[in-house]
Amino acid sequence: MSILSGKNILLGITAGIAAYKTANLVRLFIKAGANVKVVMTPASKDFITPLTLSTLSKNPVHSSFTHDDDDNAMWNNHVELGLWADYFVIAPATANTMSKMANGTCDNLLLATYLSAKCPVYFAPAMDLDMYKHPSTLESFKLLKSFGNIMIPATSGELASGLVGEGRMAEPEDIISFIEKEIINTLPLREKKVLITAGPTYEAIDPVRFIGNHSSGKMGFEIAKAAASLGAEVILISGPTSQQVSHSLIDVKFVTSASEMYDAVHSYFKTVDIAILSAAVADYKPKNVSDIKIKKAAATFSIELEKTKDILKSLGAIKNHQFLVGFALETNNELDNAKGKLKSKNLNLIVLNSLNDQGAGFGGSTNKVTFITDTEEVIEHQLKSKTEVARDLMQQIIKQQHA
Ligand code: CTP
Repeated sequence: MSILSGKNILLGITAGIAAYKTANLVRLFIKAGANVKVVMTPASKDFITPLTLSTLSKNPVHSSFTHDDDDNAMWNNHVELGLWADYFVIAPATANTMSKMANGTCDNLLLATYLSAKCPVYFAPAMDLDMYKHPSTLESFKLLKSFGNIMIPATSGELASGLVGEGRMAEPEDIISFIEKEIINTLPLREKKVLITAGPTYEAIDPVRFIGNHSSGKMGFEIAKAAASLGAEVILISGPTSQQVSHSLIDVKFVTSASEMYDAVHSYFKTVDIAILSAAVADYKPKNVSDIKIKKAAATFSIELEKTKDILKSLGAIKNHQFLVGFALETNNELDNAKGKLKSKNLNLIVLNSLNDQGAGFGGSTNKVTFITDTEEVIEHQLKSKTEVARDLMQQIIKQQHA
């Protein structure tokens, strides 16, 4: 999965011949899993039609401050467009538009959106070779870069004028990989390895029965996605679950029992920087596992159980550079119990779920958590989606690591 997956890309198209390549650029953004909206300068419509772009992006294309549908004049809100975007990509960026961007001119919707956008802005210049070298163009590049905008340099080659030189807009494939690399390079967890456990474990009674629990694995999978979207390389060790993930930075290893999870976790722990153990590991397992299916006979039936190994505690005992995070699911005396686990398992952070909070815990798509740090700071969060909780958790880890 591309780092652009799920991101909102606003593509700004200006009036250069390279605009014809933006049909392919939209397609590639969509293929990478991004949501795409297009804003065009009026003159760029001579080079590519809004219909092509709206069909490919599956969104309306805007080029003026108003549009008239069924005699109802509607305002195209440039502020909304700018705020919607995670990334604004202006390609092709003509000398004219770049000069206006550099000087704060705002005489079309694209420029107003540029001035409203708070997200990173990329621009891919395209023009003839002498225009590309002109001091005023070079001044625009300098100013735009000084504003924090990111230039995707033009390449050398045959130009529309028939001349050969620098000024060709970067090819759509190269624009995409340039942006992907740029994003990864600025991510706070790039070059970090994160180990995550998720889901329940199943402890066999006989070949067809097991002791398990209701953990869905959703929280752990969301944490894996949040870590990967911050650039981390993730090893996700999960018990049986219906959750799925496909991301180039997430390597999923499925296990069944607590002892398999223990072995898998220990085979990676030494190489990771952060370990987050969110799995609902069985605390006990049947002492003897029958090789054959147990037949019903007596009116009552007991299974002798023995403790499983506490994976989290075993990591706390051997950790050196690793940042270790545990979860605590409590029903009473929550804060004290969680603080106790933080200390006894030698953790840097514990995430407390109270089953007394509505919407928290297993199964659902929401969770209400409290973070307790190794300096005993207590940070309470509201009820949120598990996706948001996962993001909060990763931000907390980054904050503590930089403290
Ligand atoms: N955990 C683990 N291995 C186990 C049991 C738990 O790694 N065999 C981890 C869980 O992934 C979680 C944390 O320990 O991060 C807390 O689990 P929890 O069941 O709440 O606590 P326990 O220490 O098992 O204590 P108790 O069940 O008595 O509350």
